[in-house]
Amino acid sequence: MTEGVQTPSAFTKRVFSGIQPTGHLTLGNYLGALKRFSEVQDQDYETIFCIVDQHAITATFQDPAVLARATRELAAGFIASGIDPAKSVLFNQSQVAEHAQLAWIFNCVARMGWMQRMTQWKDKAGKNAQNASLGLFAYPALMAADILVYHATHVPVGEDQKQHVELTRDIATKFNHDYGVDFFPIAEPVIEGAATRVMSLRDGSKKMSKSDPSDMSRINMTDDADTIAAKIRKARTDPDALPSESKGLEERAEARNLVNIYAALSDTSVDDVLAQVGGKQFSEFKPMLAELAVAKLSPISTEMARLMEHPDEIDAILRKGADQARAVAAPILQRTYDIVGMVR
Ligand code: TYM
Repeated sequence: MTEGVQTPSAFTKRVFSGIQPTGHLTLGNYLGALKRFSEVQDQDYETIFCIVDQHAITATFQDPAVLARATRELAAGFIASGIDPAKSVLFNQSQVAEHAQLAWIFNCVARMGWMQRMTQWKDKAGKNAQNASLGLFAYPALMAADILVYHATHVPVGEDQKQHVELTRDIATKFNHDYGVDFFPIAEPVIEGAATRVMSLRDGSKKMSKSDPSDMSRINMTDDADTIAAKIRKARTDPDALPSESKGLEERAEARNLVNIYAALSDTSVDDVLAQVGGKQFSEFKPMLAELAVAKLSPISTEMARLMEHPDEIDAILRKGADQARAVAAPILQRTYDIVGMVR
């Protein structure tokens, strides 16, 4: 072991997570990520949250004005969901060059075979992999750098990011092993709660996603009350009444999804929800869900709209967050360069 290098037990309990500024925020992003970020902010962790604009240009060309607007809108979404810039660091990735600098080193640690196994790469590149960007292929190494440039120990994400966090662990392990150090922590994915995988409202086998061509498949955090209610009313379900126990949701993906959403929005368990609504038809349950969703989401979308009227304030928050982030990241990158043998 290299002398003086921090050992894992000495790592500060530090959370890092990121969201891409592509499209509007969805209910999936809120329940799988944002809502949980604001909860963890008040626990015993340092918290760092990032708008990953460098990831946002990997999959398709982004119109520059649209990317800039989506970045500010996402910042507004973080703040409106309860992220307090006085308690958490909030910034956009491109302002902290250390992410990309560490990512280069990780590009040289990660193996082609590891990257080729990433299911998101396979899904997003599809049959046309030859035409996908190099950035899309390397994306998980940049994500590992996002996490490890802060020595983050915990990464709250939805189900779909689990494999990327596992790759982050593999990269940290290989780096530590190759250089004979205990330098990077083996970060834990934190995937908890009733809504770690919110599904499409139109197809219970597909994830709710910003990129689904059907807007009816998702609830956007910017949807107004009537739109939210209409989308829930039209959500696909089956003809049976709701069961009284979670076992009764097996093989009923759409029903399970709506119950999971209800549980997550009301901060209760699926079992408690079913104890309350078991035996009801969807014609009765859907208006209950719509009312709950509007009550929880409307204050957030109203606050987002208010914040978006003050883009200068948003930019100032991001700049301050970037300064704080850099103060953590820069020494970790410098130590990495020392370990690798890069003279400075
Ligand atoms: P992204 O932008 O696709 O999604 C942001 C967060 O939202 C979660 N999420 C969902 N959770 C439940 N149900 C859904 N339908 C749903 N859709 C999205 C995601 O799991 C994620 O937590 N690669 C990441 C961004 C990233 C990152 C990081 C995350 C870049 N660097 C470092 C953590 C740490 C992504 O594309 O997430």
